[in-house]
Amino acid sequence: MSELSIIAGKSSENLAKELSKKIKGNFVKSEIRVFPDGESKITLIGKLSKKKSIVVQSIYPPVDTNLVRALSLISKAKENSSEVIAVIPYMGYARQDREFLPGEIVTMKVLGKLFKGAGASKIIVVDIHSLIGFKHFSIKTKNVTAIPELVKYFKKLSLKNPLVISPDQGGKERAKEFAKEFNSNYIALDKKRDKKTGKVEIKTKSIDEVKNRDLILVDDMISTGGSIIKAAQFLKKQKCKRIYVACTHALLMNDAEKKIKKAGVTSIISTNTIPGKTSKVDISKTIAKAIM
Ligand code: R5P
Repeated sequence: MSELSIIAGKSSENLAKELSKKIKGNFVKSEIRVFPDGESKITLIGKLSKKKSIVVQSIYPPVDTNLVRALSLISKAKENSSEVIAVIPYMGYARQDREFLPGEIVTMKVLGKLFKGAGASKIIVVDIHSLIGFKHFSIKTKNVTAIPELVKYFKKLSLKNPLVISPDQGGKERAKEFAKEFNSNYIALDKKRDKKTGKVEIKTKSIDEVKNRDLILVDDMISTGGSIIKAAQFLKKQKCKRIYVACTHALLMNDAEKKIKKAGVTSIISTNTIPGKTSKVDISKTIAKAIM
């Protein structure tokens, strides 16, 4: 029996497979049967280690379903293994880390209790929206960054005098880190989001530096695409050349991808924290390093 088992949740099956190639462990698959009322019946295929289990399950849409599945896998792992590490490549609910408007529930506080209660002793995530979310967790937490892997991908493209852009001031440090690895400069735009409607506006007036240059718009995630669309429309008006988007988590809800392309974006590159058409960058090596 292996010292370690890697339990692949359905939302991260391929990533868990890549991970188990990098760390020596027994791969355990999960099979799901969904009942007509929406409940999931999960069956694990494979033997669990008595010592340590690693559960890999991203919490992307359907978020609540994937969350309950993650907690169920952790709970089952804890019945067998003395140590359980939860690898949640995309941490759903991470944007609900504080009370923005009176009466709002800080769901990250609830998740802190649920992950501990289910039996995880440590949680590893990739580019969490903000570390504030982890203030509500009493188990060990680790956030790893996908930026070096994303940069490796962009280094292979022949970009013309590239410049890194953050669509908002909140992403300034991310853009700075990307630009440092990429060996270029960066600019952070001023974005305003209406807290009630979610509508996004770019407040930056004009920027000459982007003229005739290829741009890399860097963000942690794309959900509706609103932030990237507004930024791309603004940058196109400033007469930039091509716009590429680099993001860790591409949720791309509804027709976000189509709308982003329509706004003038040449290509979207994301990681396999959320598998899909744009997830060209594998993050398993980075996660493996965080586990070992
Ligand atoms: C916001 O602060 C985040 O970093 C992302 O820019 C945002 O969550 C993306 O959401 P959407 O695609 O809906 O604008």
